[in-house]
Amino acid sequence: MDSSKPAKAVKDVVEAAAEKVAGVLTPDVPGAPGSAPPTVEEPTTPHDPLPPKAEQGAPETRSPTGAKTGAPAIANGQQGAFLTTSQGARLRDTDHSLKAGPRGPILLQDHHFREKITHFDHERIPERVVHARGAGAHGLFTAYGTAERVTKAGFLKKGRETEVFVRFSTVLGSRGSADTVRDTRGFATKFYTDEGTFDLVANNMPVFFIQDAIKFPDIIHAAKPHPDREIPQAQSAHDTFWDFVSLHTEAQHHTMWNMSDRGIPRSYRTMEGFGVHTFRLVDAAGETVLVKFHWKPKLGVHSLTWEEAQLLGGIDPDFHRRDLYDAIEAGAYPEWELGIQVFPDTPEETFAGIDLLDPTKIVPEELAPVQPIGRLTLNRTPRNFFAETEQVAFHLGHLPPGIDVTNDPLLQGRLFSYVDTQLTRLGGPNFSQIPINRPHAPVNDMLRDGFHQHAVHAGVAPYRPNSLDGGNPFPAGDDENAFVDVPVTVAEAPKVRANPVSFDDHYSQVRLFWLSMSPVEQEHIIRAYAFELGKCYHQAIKERQLQSLANIDPVLCAEVATGLGLPAPQPTVPIADVAPSPALSQVGREWPSDGRMVGVVVDPDADLDGVGQVRRAVFAAGMVPLLIAPHGGLVGDLPVQRTFATGRSVEVDVLLLAGAPAPAPDAIPARDAKAGAADSAAVDPRVLLLVEECWRHAKAIGAWDGGVTVLERAGVAGTPGVVTGDSGAEVFTAVQQLLAAHRVWERFPASVA
Ligand code: HEM
Repeated sequence: MDSSKPAKAVKDVVEAAAEKVAGVLTPDVPGAPGSAPPTVEEPTTPHDPLPPKAEQGAPETRSPTGAKTGAPAIANGQQGAFLTTSQGARLRDTDHSLKAGPRGPILLQDHHFREKITHFDHERIPERVVHARGAGAHGLFTAYGTAERVTKAGFLKKGRETEVFVRFSTVLGSRGSADTVRDTRGFATKFYTDEGTFDLVANNMPVFFIQDAIKFPDIIHAAKPHPDREIPQAQSAHDTFWDFVSLHTEAQHHTMWNMSDRGIPRSYRTMEGFGVHTFRLVDAAGETVLVKFHWKPKLGVHSLTWEEAQLLGGIDPDFHRRDLYDAIEAGAYPEWELGIQVFPDTPEETFAGIDLLDPTKIVPEELAPVQPIGRLTLNRTPRNFFAETEQVAFHLGHLPPGIDVTNDPLLQGRLFSYVDTQLTRLGGPNFSQIPINRPHAPVNDMLRDGFHQHAVHAGVAPYRPNSLDGGNPFPAGDDENAFVDVPVTVAEAPKVRANPVSFDDHYSQVRLFWLSMSPVEQEHIIRAYAFELGKCYHQAIKERQLQSLANIDPVLCAEVATGLGLPAPQPTVPIADVAPSPALSQVGREWPSDGRMVGVVVDPDADLDGVGQVRRAVFAAGMVPLLIAPHGGLVGDLPVQRTFATGRSVEVDVLLLAGAPAPAPDAIPARDAKAGAADSAAVDPRVLLLVEECWRHAKAIGAWDGGVTVLERAGVAGTPGVVTGDSGAEVFTAVQQLLAAHRVWERFPASVA
C-alpha cells in the first residue's frame, strides 16, 4: 500500500459500500456487526476508521482525575487511516516477520513482530472470581426528586440527569459460560454523579445465601465446579452446592429464589434489581432513614421456562447479551424505575419485627411500599467489551454524600472485598483511572504512583498537613458537601464471633415466598428442586435438603420427595404462620411488549404483502420481527433472518404463521436433526416443531391465510392463546394483547393448587 496516497473520507467509503449492497441487506435488522455493510472485495484504499454503530457509546472522555477534556471519544481508541506501531510509526507490512531470506529464521531485530506477539501474549486478565460472565450498557438516570426529603444526594434532586453504566451478570459461570443457566443475576450500576461515583452493586434477588461476609468463600467454593474434575460449569445442580445449603440453612431463602422462575430470567430487561442490604440515607440536616433499593423493570418480571433455558444454552449461549444489545439497537431502550422502601432509623434497626441488618430477609412490599425516586434508561451499547464491560470496577464503598452504609455484616465484608480483588484483576491500584471507571467529579486525592499511573500529578506535597503546596488539598466542611460517616451509636458489647439471635430464623420467609407464588410458579419450583437434587449423587444430601423443605412446606417437600423417590420427612421446627406477599409473583399482571421477538414463518407462497405489513407493525410497536423461511436471502423483498434449519422456537416470544410451507429440500434428518421431529408430508416438520414448542412453552401463536392449516396439523387450533384472523395485522394485534401477560398461563396445568 502506498502510504503517500491521500486517505479517502469515511463518508465516501460508507456510502460506496452501502450503494453496492443496497437492496440485498436491510439495515433495520439489529445485530449486524459494523456500521457499514462490507464489500466482497478486500478494501485497499486507505480511509479513516468507520464510525461506530449508531447505538454505540463509549465512556465520556475525562482525565484520569475526572476533569472534562472535551476530547471526542476517538481519543480513547483507533484513529487515522494507517496502521502504526504502539509508538505511532506507520507500518508497511504486518503479515510477514522479518527473516534472513524468505526461507530463513526470524530475526531478533524484528521489533514489530516482538511488540505484536508480546502484547497478544498478555491480552487476557484474570476473570472476576464471581460474576465473570456479564454484559453492559450505558444509559441515563433521571431523578424524580421524590428522594429529596430523605437524602441530600445531589443526583437524586428533581430533574437531575446522571450518566450511568450498568453491568448484568451471572454469578457462577466462567466468562464464556451460557447466559441462560439457573443462577442469581448481578445488576451493578455505576452512577457518575458530580459529587462522586455511586455504585449500586445489586442482584436480581433481594436476599443472599449468607448473613456474614466471612462465609462468602464457603458458598462460592460450594457452588463453583467441583475442585477435582472442574464440573459442572455454571450450575447449582451438583452435590457440593446442595451439601452446603442443606447444612447451612440460612441459605434456604436465597436457594428457593434460585429454584423459582427468577433464576432463569427471560431477559435482563425483565429482571428486578435489589440492593439487598439496608442502606442509610442522610439529609442536609443530618436526619437519617433506613432504606432498601429496588429496580422495577418497565417490562415487568418475566422468565424463561426451564426447557427454553436449557435449549438456549446450546442454541444461543449469548441470548441475554444479544437481547440487551439488539433491544437497544432497535430503539426499545430498557427502562427501570429506582425505588426505595423507607424505614425509620431506630436503634433496633428492625421494621415490623424484621431485622433490617439480616440480608436473608425481605420486607414485603405490602408492609413498606416501594416509592419511585427515578428512572434508568439504557440507550447505548459499549463500543469495546474489554475496555468497558470487562474493566469496569464496582465497589459498595463508592458512595456520594447523602448515602451511607449500615452494620449488615454481609455489607461490611463486601466493603473490603471488591477493591481487594480488583487490585489483582485490573493489575494494580490505579484502576479508577481506566476510562470506564473515571469519575465525573473532580478528583483531588493524595494517592500517588503505582502500576499504570495515568495522571501527571502536580504539586510537591501529597500529604497532609502540608505548607509546601499551600495546604492544598483541604478537608471539606459540612457546608461544602463533605461525605460524612453517620455517627451511629455502637452499643457497648463484648468482642464476639456471633450473630444476633434474630438471624436464627431460617424458614419463615422461605415459606412466605413459597406461599406468595401462583400454582404454576410453585410447580416450576418443585420441578427445579427435583431436577437439581436429582442430579446429586449422594442420598444423604438429598435427605438433608428434604428436611429443610419439610420445615418450609409439607406439599413442597412431598412433591420433591416423590420426584426423588424418597420418603418425605416430618418438620423439625413449627411451620411458620406467615402472610403471603402477592407482589413477589410474576403472574397476573400486564406489561408493555417493547423489544420482544415476533417470529414470522413465511414461504414464497405465503401472503407476502401481509407479512410486509406485519413486519412494519412489529417495528412500529417497538418490537423486533424474526422472519423464518425455508431458505436464506430474500422471500419476495423480505429479508430472511432464520431458515427452518437455523431457527428455533426459543428465540421468539410469539409465533405468527403466514403460510403452510411444504417440506424444504433439507427437511431430512440427515441434514437437520429437527426434521425428524414430526412426520408430515404436507408441512415442513421444522415448522410443526416450532408450533409444538411455542405451544408447550405457553407462547401466543397466531395464523392467517395458509398458516391456519399448520395450526390444524399441529393439533393446537382453537386452544387457549392460539388465534386466527383474516389478515396479518389483525392477528398480530391479537397476539400482542396476549403477550402483555407474558405467557398463556392456563396452558400450564398445576397440580398443587
Ligand atoms: C448482597 C450480596 C451480594 C451482592 C448483591 C453482590 C453483587 C455482586 C455483583 C453484581 C457483582 C458483579 C460486579 C460486576 O458486574 O463487575 C459482584 C462481584 C463480586 N462480588 Fe459480590 N455480591 C454480594 C455479596 C458478596 C460478598 C459477601 C462478597 C465477598 C465478601 C462479594 C465479593 C464479590 C467479588 C470479589 C466480586 C468480583 C468483583 C470484581 O472482580 O470486579 N460479593 N458482586
